[in-house]
Amino acid sequence: MVNFWKKLVKDKHKGKLTRDGIRLHDPADFDGMHKAGALAAQILDEVADLVHPGQTTGALDRFIEDKVNAAGAKSATIGYKGYQHASCISVNHVVCHGIPSDKTLKDGDILNIDVTVIVDGWYGDTSRMFVAGKLSRKAERLIQVTHDSLMKGIEAVRPGNTFGDIGHAIQTYVEGHRMSVVRDFCGHGLGRVFHAPPNVLHYGRPGTGPVLDEGMFFTIEPMVNLGRPETKVLADDWTAVTRDKSLSAQFEHSIGVTADGADIFTLSPAGRFHPTWTTG
Ligand code: MF3
Ligand code: CO
Ligand code: CO
Repeated sequence: MVNFWKKLVKDKHKGKLTRDGIRLHDPADFDGMHKAGALAAQILDEVADLVHPGQTTGALDRFIEDKVNAAGAKSATIGYKGYQHASCISVNHVVCHGIPSDKTLKDGDILNIDVTVIVDGWYGDTSRMFVAGKLSRKAERLIQVTHDSLMKGIEAVRPGNTFGDIGHAIQTYVEGHRMSVVRDFCGHGLGRVFHAPPNVLHYGRPGTGPVLDEGMFFTIEPMVNLGRPETKVLADDWTAVTRDKSLSAQFEHSIGVTADGADIFTLSPAGRFHPTWTTG
């Protein structure tokens, strides 16, 4: 989502909010998030086998939309600020918010597929990387570092730590591998709303930002570039690309803060979060 406070919709549900406007959810709310998160993750598990050279991103999106409907769930993205698809599919140097289309995938293309579903009012938001055909060594390295940076961020999640600790863990890991963290987009609170406070930055300084507390629900979704971090949005008003046209990757989990760590709502039921492809 866009790294800009005033774009956040206020969460009008009753209950506890912190001074920073971050909702503290009840134990029962974790169940709702697990159902929504598991469906989003399962749909990504299923779409994996359709990713191959010659496939169109539009066909992948239609498959996803059908799966959301078949589950009796709703797509959170169809109708969101005028967006018309059940997924965002971001190929190669597209950083995020790629629009599914009739364009076909070529051998060696890497793509992020991002799905958000609503189940019983709860939002499950997750994305991961796929490859069409043969993965290059440099793309493999980018994807591995991006995935591992998300996990470093999740390891920093516990009550008493801050959002700056999460961003710092991701940034130092990525930059230690001579890659860059995108600053123009960030993670977000979610729950019974799609995008809520806080902005979850994927860079930062330890001990800064809001303090984490049990019951907070949010996404961590680092975007990592092989080249420079700068992005620009194309004339369609959605597609964000790297300015230097370098390859970009992203992984996203929706999580909840527990008494001693993080509960990941969007784990892959098939154990396919990473890697999502078969080799050989
Ligand atoms: N799922 C994206 C996120 O991680 C948001 C996509 S909004 C859309 O926050 F309208 F572009 F689909
Ligand atoms: Co998100
Ligand atoms: Co998403």
